[in-house]
Amino acid sequence: MKRPARPSELPRRRSPIVPRAARSAERFADRSPLRILITAGPTREYIDPVRFLSNDSSGKMGFAIARCAAQRGHAVTLIAGPVVQPTPEGVQRVDVVSAADMLRAARRAWKSANVLVMAAAVADYTPADPARFKLKKSARTRVLRLTPTADVLADLSARRRVGQCVIGFALEDRAGRANAAEKLRRKGLDAIVLNRPTAIGADASRVEVLVRGAAWRRLPAGGKTELAERLLPIIEEVARAAGRGCP
Ligand code: CTP
Repeated sequence: MKRPARPSELPRRRSPIVPRAARSAERFADRSPLRILITAGPTREYIDPVRFLSNDSSGKMGFAIARCAAQRGHAVTLIAGPVVQPTPEGVQRVDVVSAADMLRAARRAWKSANVLVMAAAVADYTPADPARFKLKKSARTRVLRLTPTADVLADLSARRRVGQCVIGFALEDRAGRANAAEKLRRKGLDAIVLNRPTAIGADASRVEVLVRGAAWRRLPAGGKTELAERLLPIIEEVARAAGRGCP
């Protein structure tokens, strides 16, 4: 018995002569899944085998974005620093420790993604000479020399191909909008999400979003899952614009 035709095998009903306006409306309404690379959580920069520099990031915001993106049908790769968070269903997770690990993993994943959402709280400095063995206590003052880490967001932004879009976060305790807008320009981003230090490790947050060329949007304060649900349509809008070759 002949099997029923699959939808992809059915004759296309659309007339070959489609008015230009309808064609562009169709492109605008494109809902094909995106390949989204998300980073979350802190990094650890080891001083010796048992001590490290880090921050209080819990990864909750990045994990909420990953969960929400997967629920909306997107293909999600989540690069996570050391956090205690369950892997959201359908998400491909890569665990990393240091900023250097995150850079390596992100560069690899960026080759096949079309959107980067950089929610991780990457350490800006790493010990210049980490000790091979546990440092011994001494009565003397110790000086820790630090070297800057690579900026993962700026690095991936500089390596982007046509159609890829880059969304960063900014954590600011002063002059939030001005500092975040400056980061958007300096790192060549398509959009930036501004949050405050009170968001670190918390279940809720208050964010504002700046899409390049548009005005600031303040999202209603809420839980991180709720915020992720509000951010996803913006991320999709920015990604579709980049996919259409819009500036
Ligand atoms: N970021 C990054 N790599 C770093 C530092 C930051 O990719 N080594 C990314 C963060 O993930 C975030 C954005 O850059 O998406 C802004 O991070 P933020 O901590 O607000 O600012 P910095 O660029 O680190 O600058 P500063 O600490 O001076 O505010």
